[in-house]
Amino acid sequence: MSLKESSNRDGFTSKFGILAAAAGSAIGLGNIWRFPYVVGESGGGAFLLVYLSFVLLLGIPVMLSEFVIGRKSKRNTFGAFKKIAPGTLWPVIGVMGIVAAFVILAFYSTIAGWTLHYVYLSITNGFQGRDTAELTLMFEMFQTSTVLPVIWQLIFISLTAVIILSGVKKGIEKYSKILMPFLLLLLIALSVRSVTLPGSLDGLVFLFKPDFSKLSSSVILGALGQAFFSLSIGMGALITYSSYFPAKTNLSNTAFEVSIADVIIAILAGIAIFPAMFSLGMQPEMGGAGLIFMVLPNVFLQIPGGYIVSIAFFILLAIAALTSSISIMEVVVAFLVEEFNMVRRHATAITAIAAATVGLFCTLSWGALENVTLGGRNIFDVLDFTASNVLLPLGGLLIVIFVGWYMKFTEVKDEMSNQGALMLKFLGLFRFLVRFIAPVAIAIIFLNAIGILRV
Ligand code: TRP
Repeated sequence: MSLKESSNRDGFTSKFGILAAAAGSAIGLGNIWRFPYVVGESGGGAFLLVYLSFVLLLGIPVMLSEFVIGRKSKRNTFGAFKKIAPGTLWPVIGVMGIVAAFVILAFYSTIAGWTLHYVYLSITNGFQGRDTAELTLMFEMFQTSTVLPVIWQLIFISLTAVIILSGVKKGIEKYSKILMPFLLLLLIALSVRSVTLPGSLDGLVFLFKPDFSKLSSSVILGALGQAFFSLSIGMGALITYSSYFPAKTNLSNTAFEVSIADVIIAILAGIAIFPAMFSLGMQPEMGGAGLIFMVLPNVFLQIPGGYIVSIAFFILLAIAALTSSISIMEVVVAFLVEEFNMVRRHATAITAIAAATVGLFCTLSWGALENVTLGGRNIFDVLDFTASNVLLPLGGLLIVIFVGWYMKFTEVKDEMSNQGALMLKFLGLFRFLVRFIAPVAIAIIFLNAIGILRV
């Protein structure tokens, strides 16, 4: 690529734009929809503790590694490895990432579609006058139906495609900047209401008091998958995003700040959900993927101004989902544009249509296709498991090995320090985590869970 071409490459502008875009990718359904139900199924406090350790020790190093690869190469996930390691097999990481992006987009849009439906239900006052059982039934009727969830999913994928089409700077930055602080405020309000409901204390105990007997190899792999999913790491979404970062971005600070923000939002979602659940007499492992859609309407009904709050909440959640899904779709679009010289418009259309096709099967997993299962999991769960608990950890493993062992340390250091302009306090720690702790830990967790290794 000539200099002229590369300087024409679209990019993010302000410091806040970068943080907002990266945080916009990380913060989404993973924090607010997925985190609570996985915590519920995994026994609460002990899972939370393991999850937090994984974010700190494994997640932040992987995220920073993606930033280094992306900004150094200024390429899509596949092209990045081709550029830094020409003539090697490393670009396979990029291929895995593109497969993972498809799979995630397919099932992510199912849940995002549910969110849109709940915007509609909120506006039309659909929760009013219903008790807990009726709200649950209402969700299940919707979840198992054939037409409506698919329509909402298609609307969501189209919205994602429209934003992708408007380009990186104008699109992503503009949409993610303003709205996330509002989501934070609403989550705080919901948490306050949730912990002041009668009988809510048990929910806090469940969330924060570790019961280590609940840990098993599959729960631990689940915590790793949740950490990776929530942080948007392991498939090159952040390689793609950081390829648009300017030279002066402080990569370490960005990785740290994004991860902390992500964890805070997830924990707040937990505080909004579990106390309310216990107060309603629901079991934490109930609900599955529908958990928040069954529980939160109950909370809205008990909040002053709940009508407005519920509308605002589901709209903001849908927007949080959008700022995440654009980062997933961008992985595939950037790949098609840069590697196959496709026009951005065509690349986006192809990606959206392909994702919608696979997504259809995910959305029908509880209804028309409920009998299609693998080892007791429906299509949705199989795809979620494959992406979150297999492809992302594997991708993360290869990414840290690439940065820790393949790249020259001086290259990594130059990129992290912006060619020497920044003082790096944690460089030694980062190097140690990336070379030893992260690869060994991810490998052990993974092999342990699939039964090859027993520790
Ligand atoms: N992290 C996002 C969320 O929590 C989802 C997401 C966006 C993602 N980009 C990703 C997950 C890349 C895995 C990989 O909702």
